Amino acid sequence: MINFFNFFICGFMGCGKSTLAKLISQKTNFNFVDTDLEIEKLFKCSIPAIFAKFGELQFRKAETQILKKLVKQKNLIVATGGATLILNNNFKLLNNHCKIIFIDSSFEVCFNRIENSNRPLLKKLGPLELHHLFLERQKIYRKIAHETIVENTSLSTKTKLKTALTIIKQNLL
Ligand code: S3P
Repeated sequence: MINFFNFFICGFMGCGKSTLAKLISQKTNFNFVDTDLEIEKLFKCSIPAIFAKFGELQFRKAETQILKKLVKQKNLIVATGGATLILNNNFKLLNNHCKIIFIDSSFEVCFNRIENSNRPLLKKLGPLELHHLFLERQKIYRKIAHETIVENTSLSTKTKLKTALTIIKQNLL
């Protein structure tokens, strides 16, 4: 069965977009896509290396390019990068076949998960600036999302998955 929809998962770095999208694809017939991985394939190097060698602007252009390709497809569960949908108003590229699910996690949860990672923005921004970015972005995720999964500290991955699957089913009706 081919689903009519694509679901795009958005949220701040570390909110668990890729983990959730992968699990959803295992439980459904949606095909998993991760925009960060697609960009790494395109440049044939890692995201930190893309930022270092080509600059953030080229990375951002690639995000838009990938998104334009994905919206032409169907049956996808897409884990987006933290800014993929919100920079350059990219969410406007999505059509009626696309739904956005926002994972609304706290800054503390996200920060704990990313602080020791090699994400390029962590090199550039200190915790206070990151928090500021988080607050700014949360406002936009909230505006653009069709559905939201609120993650408080007690929400297990299993519960998050269950909520996501319910959301998806409801949208397919
Ligand atoms: C970014 C988030 C990252 C990745 C890149 C930039 C951002 O993805 O796209 O490092 O600007 O928020 P994750 O949200 O999957 O960490």
